[in-house]
Amino acid sequence: MSRKPIRKAVFPVAGLGTRFLPATKAIPKELLPIVDRPLIQYAVDEAREAGIEQMIFVTGRGKTALIENFDIAFELEATMAERGKDLSVLEPTRFTPGDLISVRQQVPMGLGHAIWCARAIVGDEPFAILLPDELMVGEPGCMAQMVEAYHEVGGNLISVLEVPHEEVSSYGVIDPGAANGALTEVKGLVEKPPVDQAPSNKIVSGRYILQPEVMRTLETQGKGAGGEIQLTDAMAKMIGSQPFHAVTFEGRRFDCGSKTGFVEATLALALERDDMGKEVRRIAERLLGR
Ligand code: UTP
Repeated sequence: MSRKPIRKAVFPVAGLGTRFLPATKAIPKELLPIVDRPLIQYAVDEAREAGIEQMIFVTGRGKTALIENFDIAFELEATMAERGKDLSVLEPTRFTPGDLISVRQQVPMGLGHAIWCARAIVGDEPFAILLPDELMVGEPGCMAQMVEAYHEVGGNLISVLEVPHEEVSSYGVIDPGAANGALTEVKGLVEKPPVDQAPSNKIVSGRYILQPEVMRTLETQGKGAGGEIQLTDAMAKMIGSQPFHAVTFEGRRFDCGSKTGFVEATLALALERDDMGKEVRRIAERLLGR
């Protein structure tokens, strides 16, 4: 069966990033770098690898630098060229004009509300969502794995991973149905459940492919956990009327919205790099007193 291709991705980047204060007072959390690439760059690269062309940033106050990051920095580039420096390092920040679109979420009322702010640009087609503070490392990337699964089953897809049961109450959790390879049917979804009421230990991990109908569900969605308009609640309402599957991501995920996750990602990626891995290993061993 032929399905509409996934051409658009929404990046909700309007959150306040309070867990990283004071670092994120003037700098968006999504611009914090893991080694030398900002978090948003990893997410944009992952979407591009999955064949997605149009990126929609849902931004808020103080987040303009995220757009600047993907603009042409004329003075910088002219000076670098004059000094004979290699400009290819800026290649991932290039965009075809018109393919980076930003909309504003005036008040950070929650992830569901942020997605709803992109409704006019998303229009009437299925679309992807990537949360840049969840760093997904895999080959192929997480969104590419999801797009492949989408061509198989269509409908709505979320990426999931398993965590120790006692950690589930910080996340969206699925009620799993029948499983077939990496695909699991989703029978229910609950945001931040108490540990004893969680239907599984499979948590939603920051990547989604959703049908445009979710925008209509979000339109009337009330506040949920934490007093925020939750995407999980809107998705839960769509279960039953549209196919809904979870894709277990084959790869690693770093929760860069938390400080320890951020440090772990920095260390893991630095250790794997050809240009610095050995040196970083020596430093780490010295610090650990080995
Ligand atoms: P988080 O739950 O990590 O919230 O949002 P946050 O505000 O970024 O960070 P903390 O908890 O205060 O430290 C998950 C994703 O949803 C976006 C965030 O930018 C992040 O990418 N988001 C969240 C919005 O765009 N708008 C919102 O109202 C809430």
